[in-house]
Amino acid sequence: VPLKSRNSFGVPALAPFLAEVDDASALPDVLASADFRDHPPLVIGGGSNLLFVGDPQAPLLALTGNRVVVAREIHGAAILRADAGTTWHALVMESLALGLCGLENLALIPGTVGAAPIQNIGAYGVEVGEFIHRVEAFEPATGEWHHLSAADCAFAYRDSLFKRESGRLIITAVEFALPRDFEPRLSYAGISAQLEAAGVSNPTAQDVADAVVAIRRGKLPDPTLIGNAGSFFKNPILPAAQANALQDANPSMPTFATGSDATRKVSAAWLIDACGWKGRRRGDAGVSGSHALVLVNHGAASGLELYELAREIAGSVRKRFGVALEPEPRLIGASW
Ligand code: EPU
Repeated sequence: VPLKSRNSFGVPALAPFLAEVDDASALPDVLASADFRDHPPLVIGGGSNLLFVGDPQAPLLALTGNRVVVAREIHGAAILRADAGTTWHALVMESLALGLCGLENLALIPGTVGAAPIQNIGAYGVEVGEFIHRVEAFEPATGEWHHLSAADCAFAYRDSLFKRESGRLIITAVEFALPRDFEPRLSYAGISAQLEAAGVSNPTAQDVADAVVAIRRGKLPDPTLIGNAGSFFKNPILPAAQANALQDANPSMPTFATGSDATRKVSAAWLIDACGWKGRRRGDAGVSGSHALVLVNHGAASGLELYELAREIAGSVRKRFGVALEPEPRLIGASW
């Protein structure tokens, strides 16, 4: 099965088999069938957070169900339940149309609802874990269904139980607890600036979503036009002393709080940019000219070429700043 159109980098790869499942309750039967019985599946959503460095050996499973319903109300919030196959941005737009708030800062993030909890998608001062009520998942090894609370999911920056125990659970649906009263989250200075530029002084949740869409369109390359998977590296979390020393030596480098005084997050984009990578390319594998954290496929790059470019970038950042970068997308067919 060719995968070029199923990964946002647009790199060629072949899977031994691919099953599309609309109704998640069919999973136990599908996974007991001959194609999957002895081969744990690789679950693929929008293909927007992975890089095929080589061909996957496992059969692929795509959940295509995309039902969204208000399941029930709890004090001041609605529980919105969405199937794993729902497009993330469509869910954000639907939640706003229903008068529900919370997801507006996460507008236009590529991918599916089922993938969102895995790396705890986040942008512009909000992480999705803050609004997750419950995750429904199937465990192939035991045949059990699970309902995981947000605490069970152990969300952290670009991390969760699902990422740490990769492959154990298949997320089939997610319930979000979304307030009806709007509390703007404007900690990311760019949002206020964008709202001001748009002449909005008393923003609605939809206004904030519109501002986020404008910001993203302005600095992140559109994966439907040029292959990419958003940020290729995580912002490194360093011991506070190391981050402070780095900041003293490089006053223009942005750093961010982590929720713990012992650590600070530093800007990977800044480190990569400072090493001169922005806009550079090796053949068709390149670094976006608009954002140093985004690797792009100019057309015919292979996954291996993008991986090798990533290693080269990480090597130069380590050499110059002594900081190890880690990839953000899942690597298939290679380790870091
Ligand atoms: N910067 C540079 N050069 C660049 C781009 C940025 O020096 O080419 C510096 C600037 O100083 C800028 C700072 O880096 O102020 C931070 O840039 P930005 O606001 O774009 O955020 P980021 O830390 O690079 C993270 C997320 C993004 C998310 C934005 C906004 C990660 C790995 N990435 O990027 O998420 O949209 O914050 O909240 O945490 C993604 O995960 O795919 C993604 C796009």
